[in-house]
Amino acid sequence: MADKLGVLVHGAGWVSTQHIAAFNNNPHTEVVAVSSRKLTSAQARADEAELEGIGLYDDYEKALAHDGVDIVCVCTPQQLHAENAIAAAEAGKHIVVEKPMGNSLDEMRAMRSAVRETGVKTIVSFVLRWNPLFETVKAMVADDALGKVYAVETDYQHDIASWWTGYEDARKKETGISAFLTGGCHAIDSMRWFAAQGEFEAARATEVFAYSGGYRKGLTREYNYIAGEWTDDVPPLEYDDYEIAIVKFDNGVVGKVSVNYGAIMPYMFPLQIFGDKGTVKDNRVWSHKYPGQNDWVTIPAILPESADVAHHPFQGQMDHFVECIQADRESHCNLEDAIHTHEIAFAAQECYETGRPVQLPLLD
Ligand SMILES: NC(=O)c1ccc[n+]([C@@H]2O[C@H](COP(=O)([O-])OP(=O)(O)OC[C@H]3O[C@@H](n4cnc5c(N)ncnc54)[C@H](OP(=O)(O)O)[C@@H]3O)[C@@H](O)[C@H]2O)c1
Repeated sequence: MADKLGVLVHGAGWVSTQHIAAFNNNPHTEVVAVSSRKLTSAQARADEAELEGIGLYDDYEKALAHDGVDIVCVCTPQQLHAENAIAAAEAGKHIVVEKPMGNSLDEMRAMRSAVRETGVKTIVSFVLRWNPLFETVKAMVADDALGKVYAVETDYQHDIASWWTGYEDARKKETGISAFLTGGCHAIDSMRWFAAQGEFEAARATEVFAYSGGYRKGLTREYNYIAGEWTDDVPPLEYDDYEIAIVKFDNGVVGKVSVNYGAIMPYMFPLQIFGDKGTVKDNRVWSHKYPGQNDWVTIPAILPESADVAHHPFQGQMDHFVECIQADRESHCNLEDAIHTHEIAFAAQECYETGRPVQLPLLD
């Protein structure tokens, strides 16, 4: 065990199951402790994963002091991410922080300072960067299959509602902030990812204009597409369920991104990338590299078509992070990079107040 990196998973809910599985499966890491608000939740995660003899805590400070912890996974609700990540950095631990990484620019600034001061490695869970279709398309973009990319469109279309264990925190304005922040940040990050030509690079936004709307804010009726039923008397969403933003990037690419919690349909994550020599629509490609093609070429790969955390490529994300720690290099999805994704969600909020385009970066 001593030659393995020890992992503490904090916040023993839905997503933590995948952090535990991924780190236990990586040959260089081992989960050595789980902590949560309730000891019973930490115990339940340990039992499910058949982890014996690990530390179980309902006190984060004590968990951080557990012998052999090198990496901390922050899997708590989003309003706790900043304080949890800062405490982990101050304890000298490498950090996996779930999205969204923070609830305000000030929180992100404080997280950035703590990480810069301590030099720990970080990764923010924009896990779709490791989705097999995304990995393939990104490699194709880097290999000039689309030529020079000039436009990217991504959309997060998902009925985030009371089926989700994290909904009670996420639905509130004070703790969830906005639809772009809670779930739509996945689409924002994907837009940044495909707007950059390099295989391991995400583009930086320079200007954002956004609208918000939809119909679910304040509504006590919601749809569950799995059961195909509407339910009454549910706690309402406290912010707009639909946001759409137009984004200018520093390399000239223009992006369109939306989040839609009101869509009455199964989860979808549409992707469109337009270049001067080719196009991608989800898993369909039209490219100058295939001069004889007379129909779309379809990539047979796992698509980003499920909301289930067990479907998400956490193994790829965590394996990449372990490689970064071992090689003493930064992840392309580290906290500094993820700030540029979150800034777009905060710029949209600012735009709703001023009605004017917002210049980025917001954090200097
Ligand atoms: N990257 C992705 O694709 C992805 C997917 C899903 C979720 N997420 C993100 O992951 C985070 C957690 O989401 P989730 O779905 O796992 O939610 P969840 O099921 O509600 O789990 C959160 C856990 O945090 C614990 N917790 C709450 N308050 C705490 C406190 N004060 N101290 C310690 N633990 C506390 C709760 O533990 P107890 O049970 O002990 O009360 C709960 O089990 C959210 O930010 C969410 O957006 C990301």
